[in-house]
Amino acid sequence: MTKKPFFITTPIYYVNDAPHLGSAYTTIAADVLSRHYRGQNTPVLFVTGTDEHGKKIADSAAAKNQKEHIFVDAVSKQFKATWAALNIHYDTFIRTTDEVHIKNVQNQFELLKEKDLLYKGTYEGLYCVSCEEYKQPDDLMEGGLCLIHRRKVEEIKENVWFFKLSGFATTLKKLIEEGTLVIEPERRRNETLGWLKEGLRDLAVSRSKVKWGIPLPWDKAQTIYVWADALLNYHTARAQAWPPDVQIIGKDILRFHAIIWPALLLGLGLNLPKKIFAHGFFTVAGHKMTKTLKNVVDPVALCKKYGVDTLRYFLLREFPFGDDGDFSEEKLQQRYKNDLQHDLGNLVQRVLTMEEKYTVKIEPGIAPRCAQAELHTERLEFDKALIEIWNLVRGANELIDREKPWVLSQTDPHKLATVLKTLHRMLETIGAGLEPYLPETASRIKALLAGGRSAEPLFPPLK
Ligand code: MSP
Repeated sequence: MTKKPFFITTPIYYVNDAPHLGSAYTTIAADVLSRHYRGQNTPVLFVTGTDEHGKKIADSAAAKNQKEHIFVDAVSKQFKATWAALNIHYDTFIRTTDEVHIKNVQNQFELLKEKDLLYKGTYEGLYCVSCEEYKQPDDLMEGGLCLIHRRKVEEIKENVWFFKLSGFATTLKKLIEEGTLVIEPERRRNETLGWLKEGLRDLAVSRSKVKWGIPLPWDKAQTIYVWADALLNYHTARAQAWPPDVQIIGKDILRFHAIIWPALLLGLGLNLPKKIFAHGFFTVAGHKMTKTLKNVVDPVALCKKYGVDTLRYFLLREFPFGDDGDFSEEKLQQRYKNDLQHDLGNLVQRVLTMEEKYTVKIEPGIAPRCAQAELHTERLEFDKALIEIWNLVRGANELIDREKPWVLSQTDPHKLATVLKTLHRMLETIGAGLEPYLPETASRIKALLAGGRSAEPLFPPLK
């Protein structure tokens, strides 16, 4: 029997706008995790994609005077191009407008209906188009504005289909408490249990006035609620890998993933994901990233300026994955100069120069692995994994300063060879440890250690 692939997902991104640093953050993390497992010879299914239906997208297309499908094709392409520029190697890219996804969503809805989990009723209440979410008066700030988007919510009244979400609260609570469904970090698990304690309301899962969506097969005047459509993308992508091993999301979409999604799966009789990890949000130079503040950061522009590995390194090193943090170009430049150029770049340069100067030939070996870093990676403690690798980098630099190979070359050629060999092996370990995080740098280090020479430093001075 072939081994079940390790199944990793990111959220699928709204195509109302081009990708920004927030979407890049989630996707880079998923890429690091999948490169890690592939490096261990574990087959991986890494799925990402785009969320293309619903009123928000239809409104964005209309604002550009474009037909929806032309608009979503163009933005979805931008996402693919961005992931290529960020060196992200996914296996499957799901678009919710793909025929296979549309069929799957309709089939799963038929099943829910057969299982008597859907009923028709009247929804009367509030809706935020930017969140694509039904709201309760408690969810709003003064003036009836959505807390997240500070935008007026719509009052709607329509006849729609409901999913019997309320009946799943007890089972979900039990599955989370006993650890069948792991939600990390701890505070997100507690947040979810808090919602469950309050009890759940049935969920409106169709819309009667939204045309840009997947029609309900038995009531074609209705389209399927965009979040139900979107969540099912993970199931469309499943291949032979069900259930997902890790689903990475941002903390803003926890409720959808930790409550609605597992309830839909329970309803369908499918196994639940093993782990949902909700990362934090970052601000840009202390401010929330929004178009109104004109501080939306373009990840591709940053890559062009600093190199793709610099961006990958910075985002995962600067603050723990589950926490909130702040992004600024100055901080990125500091990391570039201190960690990449000074610590790592210099180390590689020093070791290779000495090997050449003292004509010490070192055969390639099997580098010991940095097991501690690997463990942190598997726990999505990316900052800790990188700190572990940098401990090795600094350790190697200190070894050079302590042993002074330039003195040993005069006094003790035997010890010189031993020291250089140790440094060479340390660089092999560092290079292998960096592979998931800084794939370009890792492969350049590998080529240099194998005897390739390059005039271009690993991290050139910033212009
Ligand atoms: N389409 C839905 C997800 C459906 S999944 C079945 C969606 N899309 S989104 O494009 O708005 O957001 C996607 C991801 O980007 C989320 O995980 C969100 O947390 C993340 N980020 C958006 N802005 C961010 C920051 N400023 N910081 C970190 N991540 C952020 O929600």
